[in-house]
Amino acid sequence: MTAVTARAHTNIALVKYWGKADPNLMLPQTSSLSLTLDQFYTDTTVEFDPRLTHDMVRINAQLLAAPASQKVVDFLNIVREQSGQSAFAHVTSVNHVPTAAGLASSASAFAAMAGAASRAAGLELTPRALSRLARRGSGSATRSIYGGFVEWQAGSDDHTSLAIPLQETVDWPIAVVALVLDPHHKRISSRQGMQSSVTTSPYYPAWKTVVAQDLATIKPAILHQDFSTMGEVLESNAMRMHALTLSAQPPYSYFNGDTLRAMDTVRVLRQAGQECYYTLDAGPNLKVFCQTPDLPTITQKFAEQFGAEHVIVAHPGPGLRFLS
Ligand code: ADP
Ligand code: DP6
Ligand code: CO
Repeated sequence: MTAVTARAHTNIALVKYWGKADPNLMLPQTSSLSLTLDQFYTDTTVEFDPRLTHDMVRINAQLLAAPASQKVVDFLNIVREQSGQSAFAHVTSVNHVPTAAGLASSASAFAAMAGAASRAAGLELTPRALSRLARRGSGSATRSIYGGFVEWQAGSDDHTSLAIPLQETVDWPIAVVALVLDPHHKRISSRQGMQSSVTTSPYYPAWKTVVAQDLATIKPAILHQDFSTMGEVLESNAMRMHALTLSAQPPYSYFNGDTLRAMDTVRVLRQAGQECYYTLDAGPNLKVFCQTPDLPTITQKFAEQFGAEHVIVAHPGPGLRFLS
């Protein structure tokens, strides 16, 4: 059997996906919008092997046993069903991004897995079909099939819930400064967190209205390269998502002390005329959007505050590609 290797990059959501309508098919409650990043990615190799008696899953050189391997095994079962391939598989995956720390390892992981596993099983899927398949592994992975700015259209069923590229090549000098404030595994996965928000936060209905408004505002802002409007929307959308964690029962938060300090620094920078805006996913690590002429001042400020080794400058990144 042939081994296939695929690379996919993570993405950072500007309008967040936070809640499922159908956990089985991974249909979201709302559409969402992201930017794929060049600095963080996953390489995954899949080979089906009739001699195996179960799937062998290695992530970052560590062999995973059940239940840690379950998400991957479930995903491979979907690929086996689609392709008619019945053998178990060797999966070897390397994350060039901290795992489960709110830096979207699940997005790059399942986008790369969708590419590698489908091709290794003999399928030749279109980008749209790959996006739908990646969705079954992790919602945010739906968007990582494409580079640049991407919208995941919620849709209403397995066929209509998929990502569309808004601007695959971004001709706009913008950057995302990622602050790796804590690279450790989060205590509450995105999956558990969003489920708790959907079922227990009294603000969840308002969130759906917020997302619809934010998408309507941010899409033209991106098209017209209106950095201020894009920034204001992405920052308020992130805070409103995190308000769903504080308002859940039991309440929880992905912030730590450094997160709050970094948010303050963004405000200080803005007051000093360095236009920048923050967002963060399900973890404490802030991502700061800025325009490239402001990068030196902004990175220096965060390097002084947290140490240069915790500051990573990313730019718009590419979509899924096959390495072999
Ligand atoms: P993150 O913020 O990193 O996306 P999540 O809680 O959404 O965190 O997802 C982390 C989970 O994604 C891991 O616990 C693991 O199940 C899965 N995952 C991460 N990296 C890989 C990989 N390279 N291959 C397969 N699954 C992965
Ligand atoms: C805060 O895609 O990691 O990053 O679909 O359960 O795997 P599952 O969750 P995941 O959730 C991402 C949540 C987010 C926002 C976003 O990326 O849109
Ligand atoms: Co994730």
